[in-house]
Amino acid sequence: MTVTDINTTLGEYKVLIDKALYSYFSGKNRLFDMMYYSLDNGKRIRPILVIATFKACGGSDMGVIMPIACGLELIHTYSLIHDDLPSMDDDDFRRGKASAHKQYGEAAAILSGDGLFAYAFELFTQGSGSPEQKTAVITHVSQAVGPGGVVYGQVLDTTDRPVPSPKMLRKIHLNKTAKFIAASVKCGAIMGSASQKQSDALHDAGIYLGMLFQYTDDILDITGRKERLGKTPGKDAAAGKLTAAGLYGLDGARFRAERYAQRATDGFLACGKQFQELVQITDFVLKRTY
Ligand code: IPE
Ligand code: IPE
Ligand code: MG
Ligand code: MG
Ligand code: MG
Repeated sequence: MTVTDINTTLGEYKVLIDKALYSYFSGKNRLFDMMYYSLDNGKRIRPILVIATFKACGGSDMGVIMPIACGLELIHTYSLIHDDLPSMDDDDFRRGKASAHKQYGEAAAILSGDGLFAYAFELFTQGSGSPEQKTAVITHVSQAVGPGGVVYGQVLDTTDRPVPSPKMLRKIHLNKTAKFIAASVKCGAIMGSASQKQSDALHDAGIYLGMLFQYTDDILDITGRKERLGKTPGKDAAAGKLTAAGLYGLDGARFRAERYAQRATDGFLACGKQFQELVQITDFVLKRTY
């Protein structure tokens, strides 16, 4: 299959996810409208990973998987809103429009993020999955996005001034991004009733995919175009962030990104040829321009 084919597949997933997200937010109140403003226009990589893994594990019922997939996108969006705040990365432009605090003010942006974070867990309890599966999802996601995952990574990245080293870079990327991406794969595996061994192996490959994802994000901050990215490039160096391209140079970062892509690919393929779509998504992440 070509890269064009995977773009079509990703587009089809995105349509389904966007429709479901809209249904969770429309016709409620101003707070839901504000939350939806930030939610709109993402690539949806995390929910796509949930659904693609679920299907590869033999799952087919969208009523089981959609609330879980969308819940992850809500958490991701909360993390972006807070990441953009003046006290964090201070970014005015996100997903091709004014970031939440620019549009609604800082207090409303913070509260929109809080609302998205909590509403995600409400979605996890919904849908037609079993109570055991939902509990496992909540366990894994809360571990990946809380003080042992995304929040910890954001603390290292934002409030600390980490001494640049390969070890510190890895720690930041692992916590702020890779654990969450791996949890997306893991949720698909749990809801698709994969064996413990299979879902652990998929999770491990997901960690490599997540490291790759942050590498390409760091590279795009240097090489990307604002209109295409939907966010402002050039911010990392200006803010003195510890990034892959900053530490290894662009070529060194690209080389390591390819190595992570290869490890993710090997890991997914070792789980079986039914995981081919995850390999294609890995290739998309390696080559992405936004
Ligand atoms: C950006 O995530 C933040 C990182 C973890 C690198 P995405 O690149 O998935 O952003 P959206 O969801 O498409 O806006
Ligand atoms: C943010 O990383 C990761 C999150 C947990 C939100 P970045 O700060 O590099 O993400 P962008 O570049 O602003 O999207
Ligand atoms: Mg940041
Ligand atoms: Mg940022
Ligand atoms: Mg970035």
